[in-house]
Amino acid sequence: MELRQDLKGKDFLNIMDFSTEDLTYMLNVADELKHLSKLGKCPKLLEGKTLGMLFQKSSTRTRVSFETGIYRLGGIGLFLSANDLQIGRGEPIKDTARVLSRYLDGLMIRTYSHDEVLELAHYADMPIINGLTDLLHPCQALADIQTARQYKGTLSGLKLTFIGDGNNVAHSLMNICAKMGMHFSIACPKGHEPQETIVKNAQEVAKRTNGSITILEEPKEAIQNADVVYTDVWASMGQEKEAEERKKVFQKYHVDCELMSYAKKDAIVMHCLPAKRGLEITDEVIESKQSVVFEEAENRLWAQMAIMALLMA
Ligand code: CP
Ligand code: NVA
Repeated sequence: MELRQDLKGKDFLNIMDFSTEDLTYMLNVADELKHLSKLGKCPKLLEGKTLGMLFQKSSTRTRVSFETGIYRLGGIGLFLSANDLQIGRGEPIKDTARVLSRYLDGLMIRTYSHDEVLELAHYADMPIINGLTDLLHPCQALADIQTARQYKGTLSGLKLTFIGDGNNVAHSLMNICAKMGMHFSIACPKGHEPQETIVKNAQEVAKRTNGSITILEEPKEAIQNADVVYTDVWASMGQEKEAEERKKVFQKYHVDCELMSYAKKDAIVMHCLPAKRGLEITDEVIESKQSVVFEEAENRLWAQMAIMALLMA
């Protein structure tokens, strides 16, 4: 399998760092790796390479899909818990970045502060992959859009509606929808909108791609004619103390069968998982025929294998 070489050595921190063409190429590589792997012919593109995986927050999908993804590509994954590293005892990020660069060929990090990841990337001499920060979740967005393309055949012109918190997942989805010429609408309570600068930048990009970004308060308005309905938890990791208060504020930002009746009849339902059934989504919707959440979770594996192969091979 021949890969483009121009993404080699780059970081994957933010969807906005990549062009529409690069992102489409990543999706094509992800589909190809999925296809080849299912035939038992996964190319060993990362033989002899080691990916470090540094976690400050919990994870099921990200951890397991990165680790098995690099194994499938012939490399090795090294799980690093921040609690066990010296970074947990105050060793500076800039030192950690330079030390780890001497041992590893790439590093995936999941943490709280996005600035910490930017600092790590600045000092590291290897590709850094953002496995979720409080601000962004770009690997999730790439896998989500791979899933939407798989079910809908195309991306340009599709409408994706996000119901709930203007959080990390919403930010990266908004970014990728803008890049792919999609119509992104979000319904969120006042005070929980996506960040203004992220919205403005996405709107600028959407102008050029014939997409659109719309911020609304009313779920029934946002979801009209949606091809893809998306939701995520009301309280993200790090917001556990706000969870009870958020339950009151987010009450109507709840994807149930009634709300789904306002979307297109053939709309698909997505959730990055883990889900809180009965809060942001009902058990009935997540278990319905329209739900593609497990295919979406699987696609994390293929999308991230594409990212690793392009950055690290
Ligand atoms: N969606 C996602 O990133 O899941 P994990 O928190 O389990 O990694
Ligand atoms: N918004 C969620 C996503 C988890 C994958 C969080 O940050 O906890």
